[in-house]
Amino acid sequence: MKRRDVLKAGAVTGALAVTGVGVSACASETASMSAESITLADIPVGGGVVVSEPPVVLTQPTAEAVKAFTSICPHQGCKVNNVSDNQIFCPCHGSIFSGIDGSVIQGPATEGLAAASVTVSGNDVSFG
Ligand code: FES
Repeated sequence: MKRRDVLKAGAVTGALAVTGVGVSACASETASMSAESITLADIPVGGGVVVSEPPVVLTQPTAEAVKAFTSICPHQGCKVNNVSDNQIFCPCHGSIFSGIDGSVIQGPATEGLAAASVTVSGNDVSFG
C-alpha cells in the first residue's frame, strides 16, 4: 500500500522530531505521518491533521465531529500548514480559516476552504 505524507498539527511535534519523522518548513506545530494510519485519536479536538496527498486538512472541532477541507488556500494556492484552536492557518500571507466550516476568518483569502469528503467509522477515518 502506498504511503502518503501527512502533516499533523498538534502537540506531537517534539515527539516526532525525536523519532526522525519528516517535518514541514513551517513546523512549529506540524509533523508528518502516513495517511493510512490516521485514526480519530490522531486528530486533536480543536486541532487537525494536514495531509499532503491528497491535499486535505482534517479537523475535529468537537469530539468525534470530524471535518475535511481542501488544504489548498484559495488565495494563491499555498498549502495550509497548521490547525489550532479550531483555526486553520496558511503560512504564505496569513489567511486564517475556520476549522468548523472552512470559512474565512482572516484574509487576504476571500473564499473559504472547500469541503472534502470524510467518513468516520469507530476509530477509522477515511477521506479524499
Ligand atoms: S496563499 Fe494562503 S494566504 Fe496567500
